[in-house]
Amino acid sequence: MRKPMMAGNWKMYKNRDEARALAQEIVALVGAEEAVDIVLCAPFVDLCAVAKMTDGSKVSAGAQDVMWIDEGAYTGEVSTPMLVAVGCKYVIVGHSERRGRFGVWPKDWPEELHAVFMDNDVSVNWKARAALAGGLTPIICCGETIDERHAGTTDTIVRGQILAAMAEMTEEQIGACVFAYEPVWAIGTGEVCEADEANRVCGMIRGVLAERVCCGAQNIRILYGGSMKPDNVDGLMVQPEIDGGLVGGAALKADSFACLVTAAAKTA
Ligand code: PGA
Repeated sequence: MRKPMMAGNWKMYKNRDEARALAQEIVALVGAEEAVDIVLCAPFVDLCAVAKMTDGSKVSAGAQDVMWIDEGAYTGEVSTPMLVAVGCKYVIVGHSERRGRFGVWPKDWPEELHAVFMDNDVSVNWKARAALAGGLTPIICCGETIDERHAGTTDTIVRGQILAAMAEMTEEQIGACVFAYEPVWAIGTGEVCEADEANRVCGMIRGVLAERVCCGAQNIRILYGGSMKPDNVDGLMVQPEIDGGLVGGAALKADSFACLVTAAAKTA
């Protein structure tokens, strides 16, 4: 039986004081919920405050990215040991907003700025392995663009991302990861993927995991992400292959996030 997970991805929202207040509200609402693993992925500068505020509750702190090297001359980067030292337990890896290939930048951004968002299949793999080696649980994201979906290549694209993310991992390491299927066209758009289609792709992902992990793929959590909200969470969470959510917009308010956690708890 896989324990449901509800992970909030706060993206570039909430300064330290706002983050502390939101974490406090979430702890007050669902901080004793044992049936769900609850994660708050906050901006780096908020992680100390969020980890402190959630300490002693069932809520954990997570980061949104990580460098694959522990220390060195890498200006602006943050490493796994640094995240662990402030009480972080999880890290999102390979979110589509960080994968350069998607080209989802605002139209008025010159091309020179695109390279700032530089993740690709190789960096995702290196980051996930570094996180695992240092004691963080990576939440590895995958998903297709709308053009890829229309071209009928969803499964090929997602399969490729998952296989690349698992490169050189042991079965045990793969088993320690969480995966998140996030169709790019559903992120932040209000357009949720139909529950049975999200379930189908999550099942396909589990099949890919099973190619690498002899018998443990049934124990690996696969989340859905992309406009998950209180009014569509039940339909998604009842799906047998969907073990939880990676949530942006609806995670920025304590009451709506608590609603999602409660919905996940019902399926535990
Ligand atoms: P959304 O974001 O819930 O706002 O669509 C999900 C995500 O980006 O992880």
